[in-house]
Amino acid sequence: MQTIIEPFRIKSVEPIYFNTRIERETILEKAFYNLFLIHSHDVLIDLLTDSGTSAMSSNQWAGIMQGDESYAGSPSFFHFEETIQQITGMPLVIPTHQGRAAEKILFSSIGGKGKYIVSNTLFDTTRANIEFTGAEGVDLLCEEGKHPLKPAPFKGNMDPVAFENFIAEKGAHNIPLCIITITNNSGGGQPVSMENIKAVKKICAAHHIPLFIDACRFAENAYFIKQREPGYENKTIPGIARELFSYADGCTMSAKKDAFANIGGFLAMHNEELARQCRNLLIITEGFPTYGGLAGRDLEAIAIGLKEVMEENYLQYRIRSIEYLSNKLLEAGVPVMQPAGGHAVYIDAKEMLPHIPPRQYPGQALACALYTEGGIRSVEIGSLMFGKYDANKQLIPAPMELVRLAIPRRVYTQSHIDYVAEVVINVYNNRERIKGLSITEEAPALRHFTAKLEPVH
Ligand code: F0G
Repeated sequence: MQTIIEPFRIKSVEPIYFNTRIERETILEKAFYNLFLIHSHDVLIDLLTDSGTSAMSSNQWAGIMQGDESYAGSPSFFHFEETIQQITGMPLVIPTHQGRAAEKILFSSIGGKGKYIVSNTLFDTTRANIEFTGAEGVDLLCEEGKHPLKPAPFKGNMDPVAFENFIAEKGAHNIPLCIITITNNSGGGQPVSMENIKAVKKICAAHHIPLFIDACRFAENAYFIKQREPGYENKTIPGIARELFSYADGCTMSAKKDAFANIGGFLAMHNEELARQCRNLLIITEGFPTYGGLAGRDLEAIAIGLKEVMEENYLQYRIRSIEYLSNKLLEAGVPVMQPAGGHAVYIDAKEMLPHIPPRQYPGQALACALYTEGGIRSVEIGSLMFGKYDANKQLIPAPMELVRLAIPRRVYTQSHIDYVAEVVINVYNNRERIKGLSITEEAPALRHFTAKLEPVH
């Protein structure tokens, strides 16, 4: 059959609250043009993130009831641990309450002033946790990844030549870790190829630099490898995942993505000494090593979700539904990142709104317009999120001005997605009416979460 259907039936539903354009204009103004500050009941279709927003399966809900809440040695932990050991081949598993807690613990253990953490592209919380220790985060994305509108199969790849050069310049002893983000969220949800992971591993091994994987969306990445990389078409998703993790010394993961959980994360690794240091920090900040900031029921839900996410019917539907939205927008002329990412469609706001300069945050202006037009909440991944100031307080813009429409897993149906496409296309057809924004208040780190803005007149 040609039609790819949602591989589930719906057992429980949540209402969507409708509002009007006039109401949304007032809501946006009161939220200082920052969509993080809007109440979710004021949103019709919430594409702010695919993180923690998944619909859990009936099996996961059953697991929730079976969660064992013992402080130490809960069977839910052993189920969680064994599942992660099987998927990753890594023996040491440390639960955390979400991905950034795993990052905080890892980088507090290995970061520090004068150190560099190298990546294809660091996610914002990862970068913030690195920089908080005084270390510097370095993105060495491949050339294809820097051109949103040019399709290529593995635009999340790291640039191995740039990595070699960076090591020669800074010295391997100053690089305590390389971390590859799969899929590359900040670079458009684009996958990393097995070949690239192997090439990066070879460089890491030659210089004794541990290689970690930020594995939030490992199953989506594995499915892209199966689809696009020669030699993997007949391999299973668990087989591809296992190979991918076999090249790494460790991983961090936010279970709020590819584990279909509403909360949770973990660190996994081979190195006993590093694990000992991480567990010591875990006890101070998260909890005892057999629960690490999670309830027993969460550990169960994650263990079950990690197995469900590798089912091919699910991954086929998942990747196809993102591509479906992307194609509809492309056909209407909307500049979207190509090819479609694994969890989101990224609109190139720089291309769509050439009349708004980066210092007026074209991505944020577009995200606000999508909200006013149809109650869609998206997120800016551009100069509001990543822009920095120079010594004269002038904005150094981010390399790309993107707006991400992240699709929660198993939550929205095809007609929701058709509605999203209609709203985006309407906004695109009236794009010259969109005005830029300026910041009136901001925090020193991760400013996009709380910044206040106003329209530029
Ligand atoms: N790494 C990547 C690649 C991520 O996308 C995220 C979260 C994290 C780490 C941190 O995980 O939220 O559990 O602490 N990304 C979310 C997003 C927030 O919207 O893309 P967390």
